[in-house]
Order: sequence, then C-alpha cells, then structure tokens
Amino acid sequence: MAAGAPPDGLWQGADAPISLEASRLKDKLRPLKARERKEYLDLTKLDNAAAVRPLSLLGLRLGATGRSAPAGPRPLHRVQEVRTVGYASTVERDGGALSGQEGFAVAFSPSSRGRLTDRDLGRFPDDTLFHRLARAVCHAGCLPRKELYEAWEMGRRVRRLFRGGRVVDLGGGHGLLAQVMLLLDDSSASALVVDKALPQSSARVHDALVDAWPRISGRIAFVASGLEDVEIQAADVVVSSHACGNLTDQVLDRAVAAGARVAVLPCCHDTVTCESGELSGWIDRPLAIDILRAVRLEQQDYRIWTQTIPASITPKNRLLLGAPMR
Ligand SMILES: C[S@@+](CC[C@H](N)C(=O)[O-])C[C@H]1O[C@@H](n2cnc3c(N)ncnc32)[C@H](O)[C@@H]1O
Repeated sequence: MAAGAPPDGLWQGADAPISLEASRLKDKLRPLKARERKEYLDLTKLDNAAAVRPLSLLGLRLGATGRSAPAGPRPLHRVQEVRTVGYASTVERDGGALSGQEGFAVAFSPSSRGRLTDRDLGRFPDDTLFHRLARAVCHAGCLPRKELYEAWEMGRRVRRLFRGGRVVDLGGGHGLLAQVMLLLDDSSASALVVDKALPQSSARVHDALVDAWPRISGRIAFVASGLEDVEIQAADVVVSSHACGNLTDQVLDRAVAAGARVAVLPCCHDTVTCESGELSGWIDRPLAIDILRAVRLEQQDYRIWTQTIPASITPKNRLLLGAPMR
C-alpha cells in the first residue's frame, strides 16, 4: 500500500464507505444545483424582460402604493465576465440578498430591448463618460438598453477617425448617436437628427442629456422628414445606425453625392432591394450585401474602414466608414 493511500476496504467497491458518502453527497447536491440553475434562469429572464434587477437585489422597499421605492443606487459587485469579447453580459452578485443564500448571479445583457430607467442607475455608478451618459439615459426612462450601447460603440469608433464638421444622423430615431458624437468630441459645433418618424420620446432623451451637459443645449436640431429632403454638405459627418434595408444604401448615396464623410451600421439586409452580387454561393447574403457596399464606396474614390462593434450588443454589428480621397 502506498503511503497516504486509504486502505482498500475504505474506498474500493460500490459499498465502500467513501463511495457511499460520495453518492450521498451527490444526491444532496443534485436538487440544489438544479434549483439554482432554474432560479438563475428565471432571474435572467426577468431581468432581460424588465431591464431591471430583481427587486430583492436592488434593495428596494415596496411603498404603500405598491410601487417600488429606490433606496438609492447601490453599486453592484461585478464578479465575473461571462464573455470575453467586447461588452460581455456581466454577471453581478449581490451579497446573499436572496433568501439568505450565498450571493446570487444575475446576467445583464447589453443587447436587451428593455427600457433603461432610474431603477438601473446602480448599474452605472462610475465617474466615466459612459456611466454618466448611461445615468442620463436612465433618467429619460424611455431608451432601449441596446440603443445606448450601440450609439456609444459606434460613436466612439467614428470619432476616432472623423472630427469636426456638422454631424448628420440619418434615420436617427432618438438621436442618441448624434448627441454622443458631440459629447465625445466638441470639434463639431452642431448636429442634425433626421427621421421621418421621430419618436416623441426623443425630446425626453435630449432634455436628460442637456440637464447633464448644458453645453450641448441649442446645438442639436431634430427634423421630422425623409432623409432625401435634407441637404448634406461636404464638411458633414453623416452617420446612420441601423438604417433598415436599402435605407443604408440611400444614406451612402446621399453622403457620396455631397462628398461627405460617412459611417453606417447596416441592419435588416433585404435581399430584394439590396445588391448581393454573385457572392451568396460562398458567404451569407447580408455579408455579401455589406461587402458590395464597401467595394462600391471604395470605387467612388472613398477611403474605407471596415470595423465591428461587439456582437454581444447586436448581431448587426458591421460598421462601414468612408472618407472621400480629396
Ligand atoms: C431601426 S430604426 C434606427 C433608429 C436609430 N438610428 C437607432 O439606431 O436606434 C430606423 C429609423 O429610420 C427611420 N426611417 C425610415 N425611413 C426613413 C427615411 N426615408 N428617412 C428618414 N428616416 C427614415 C425610421 O423612422 C426609424 O426611426
């Protein structure tokens, strides 16, 4: 018998004391694990649907009205990044707030369409520009979470390449991208947000941002019209996030006609109205459509950049940037 090894009788055979103890523990642990997994999934679903942490994790008290009353934003303790590329869905742990358990993990997905509200403030406790922006967006209480991350990631990349000029956000929706562009870099005096159906809540988002950054007051114009009705100038920086289908092609055409810098994050690739050439035997059609867009832009005497924003925010994450080679 080797030194340190238990006597055979203790561990050999199914009826050995160690084997019996192991299966006793397994039996005890199995239901616990299953229950934890189920609770974790339920909480994740709840969180993603409501875009808030479960009430018990927020440390909220239910008031007499039945509405939740925040006890003040409470920073979460981030314990684990569940994905490593770009924005991970973060798993956050609160010190055992649930039924006396040893902490509990909840996923926070940046791709959620749930609205950000003041109940999310605790997720953005830092003094970084992104967290300050996120808190302002929470105050507005109307913006889908993924729009915050998309606008931020696209704006950051565009600003690394294109400074100055008027920012023109075509199909701009709430216009967050245009405003992020001004916040990131004051080299643009003004921005124009164009959307044929401006969301009413775009004013709420703008007001919340002006509250936080009075310096952008009066510098952003919102126009409810088709992008074809707006004049584009050569000095402009044209941006468009998720202009559906061939609206992205119209954005590119308008920018090129004016000789303006342009950045698009295409979505909803429409194989009927968007050109995919003969490439679909090798690659999927949406990719073929975007490759042809990039090639066309280059053929129109543009220098191009092809980038992506993190796929954990949106699968429609290909960013095409172009600047005329004057
Ligand atoms: C998918 S949304 C994207 C909104 C915003 N850019 C974002 O990233 O959240 C597309 C937007 O394009 C707008 N739109 C559609 N056709 C348009 C047109 N011809 N001119 C201007 N805006 C248009 C829609 O009203 C909608 O707000």
